[in-house]
Amino acid sequence: MKISDFLLERYFNRYEFKAPYLLSSSDCESISIRDLLILGNYKESLEKLQDLWLGYTESEGNPQLRAEIAKLYSSISSEQILCFSGAEEGIFVFLNVLLNPDDHIIVQYPAYQSLFEIANSIGCNVSKWIVEETDTEWQFNIETMKDLLQVNTKLIIINQPHNPTGSLISKDDFQSIIDIAKKRKIYLFSDEVYRLLEYSPSFRLPPACDLYENAISLGVLSKAFGLAGLRIGWIATKNAELLRKMSAFKDYTTICNSAPSEFLAILALRHRKHLVHRNLEIIKKNLKYLDEFFMDYKDLFEWKKPRAGSITLVKLKNDISSENFCKKVVDEAGILLLPSTLYEYGDSHFRLGFGRKNLPEALSAFRNFVKEYQNGKEK
Ligand SMILES: Cc1ncc(COP(=O)(O)O)c(C=O)c1O
Repeated sequence: MKISDFLLERYFNRYEFKAPYLLSSSDCESISIRDLLILGNYKESLEKLQDLWLGYTESEGNPQLRAEIAKLYSSISSEQILCFSGAEEGIFVFLNVLLNPDDHIIVQYPAYQSLFEIANSIGCNVSKWIVEETDTEWQFNIETMKDLLQVNTKLIIINQPHNPTGSLISKDDFQSIIDIAKKRKIYLFSDEVYRLLEYSPSFRLPPACDLYENAISLGVLSKAFGLAGLRIGWIATKNAELLRKMSAFKDYTTICNSAPSEFLAILALRHRKHLVHRNLEIIKKNLKYLDEFFMDYKDLFEWKKPRAGSITLVKLKNDISSENFCKKVVDEAGILLLPSTLYEYGDSHFRLGFGRKNLPEALSAFRNFVKEYQNGKEK
């Protein structure tokens, strides 16, 4: 298999553990194992963790873990859940199982690269459903998606809440996508890794797998739960044949998950409301700081308040190259932002992340950088 580099992950690989300030991370604030154990009965959980057997576990995922995950859906049983090492493995396995060369697929764009790059590597024909940008918001227009449909369209890939814009389509538009997919017998892959991070519960879309038997919902503990280091992701679908094929494919990737991660993931999911609430509170607080910041620097940045999630795209005004700007920011101030070139989406935006507790500190360093940057421009 030949596949292009994952541009964003390569960039993170270069800077993530060197730059003092991360202002573009998509995962929310994490916690320690101790903090997680404390959420339950600390002594009992610690003993269980210490006595945990470190052998292989069930390939589909620990049964208790699958049962906890199933509670996130309204009509999915634990047998309809397949666990993976992160969401990334789920994307890789699903696309490899479903797609053949020359299949046509539609994908929301810009996108987390693996959502289309794996299809490219298989030799599929990929149509990009490109987001529309106004002065105040990001929008995916359903009519644009309809125009991309072909007689042989096999799969539509959506990611809501959306990486990187933080936009979220309406419930009506979501239902229209489901209706179109159902009518034309098209599979729907719904990357829901930022689900539960909607700023108002009324914005929340139902999981696609609850609405359509050929919908595949992707979930993970990395984002809303802030537990990226556990590497626990999953796919939920009512399509038994797909589940069987993905399970067989997993024998060639990771075989099973890590037992300690599964143990901790069960604990985390039993306290899911607490974890998600904590991260949403961090996000909401950070958004207030960001509102103030962007109000102060209206002449340099175009800030469109997102509707959900922990990231968004900010536009640089005055034709400034985002690639040059982000390089200067990380080299001179140690602040990591992601230029939109990493999404192959022009050179005018950067991705901002605001799910971390130290955002005020990072933003203050960014403010100092911006002041100097503007002074330099004026001279
Ligand atoms: C939209 C989307 N899908 C999938 C993933 C992969 O998640 P993980 O790193 O937990 O495997 C990410 C990570 O950033 C993402 O943003």
